Amino acid sequence: MSDEFAGLKGTVGLVTGAAKGIGEGVARKLHGAGMKLALADVDGDGLKAMAGELGGDVLTFPLDVTDGAAVEACVAETEDKLGPIDRLAHVVGIQRFGPIAELSDEDFDATFNVNVRAAFLVARAVSKRMLPRKRGSIVAVASTAARTPRIGQGAYCASKAAVAQMMCVLGLEMAPHDIRVNCVSPGVTETGMVQRLMATMETPEVVIKGSLDGFRVGVPIGRLARSEEIADAVAYLLSDRSSYLTMQDIVVDGGGALGA
Ligand SMILES: NC(=O)c1ccc[n+]([C@@H]2O[C@H](COP(=O)([O-])OP(=O)(O)OC[C@H]3O[C@@H](n4cnc5c(N)ncnc54)[C@H](O)[C@@H]3O)[C@@H](O)[C@H]2O)c1
Repeated sequence: MSDEFAGLKGTVGLVTGAAKGIGEGVARKLHGAGMKLALADVDGDGLKAMAGELGGDVLTFPLDVTDGAAVEACVAETEDKLGPIDRLAHVVGIQRFGPIAELSDEDFDATFNVNVRAAFLVARAVSKRMLPRKRGSIVAVASTAARTPRIGQGAYCASKAAVAQMMCVLGLEMAPHDIRVNCVSPGVTETGMVQRLMATMETPEVVIKGSLDGFRVGVPIGRLARSEEIADAVAYLLSDRSSYLTMQDIVVDGGGALGA
């Protein structure tokens, strides 16, 4: 194995949202780099299938990340069974669509509960254990939606901006303790989340081509991202290769946010 992602081999990591999509891509990448992994997701069957495929040194936690007690128990059990968690990839996120004028309380609350509150619960449970050890790297998956407004995604855009800023503050608090905290912001990536979004559109190809009426910008590189391409950035930030990088938000979007 090359040292493409230096320092990951043999270390313990927690990946949330690991059953599908980008989280699955991250889990596969980190497993391939020789890490011991705890995988958490509300989709228990998906997790079981992943663990069966990956093999040894993988624990699975079927849980809802908005449940603080379950998150705390998962982190404690992981440290008991695998050792100190030195890397966290918090990937879970949901999208509820609708213009703000029509968005329901339920959709708004669910978005903030899963995307923001859970990021706080998971980051707190892991970072408080990293603190006395004075080592660790945390990556949260935000989104280009944090900086580029999108019609029908008011709650989602706002929740991702909140995650990015919370991770920046955590990075500031952790920096004196040699713990790095960063975000990866994917552009449109081929996962179940995006298939659900495209199913709401009459002409899904506007996502790549751009639309003056809707998303406005397209994807200059001319295709959607693959989960592995997002996972590469997550693995880099978790590894010792990025040892002087903290409080950053790396945008992996094929130019979709026009550099914003
Ligand atoms: N796909 C994209 O284009 C895109 C773009 C930018 C950012 N993102 C972000 O990347 C992350 C992953 O997105 P994805 O496209 O892979 O989504 P996805 O819907 O394909 O997968 C999300 C995973 O999270 C799990 N999950 C959802 N709610 C959960 C909860 N409450 N507790 C535990 N697990 C839960 C699901 O079971 C699923 O396995 C999200 O944070 C999303 O906002 C995605």
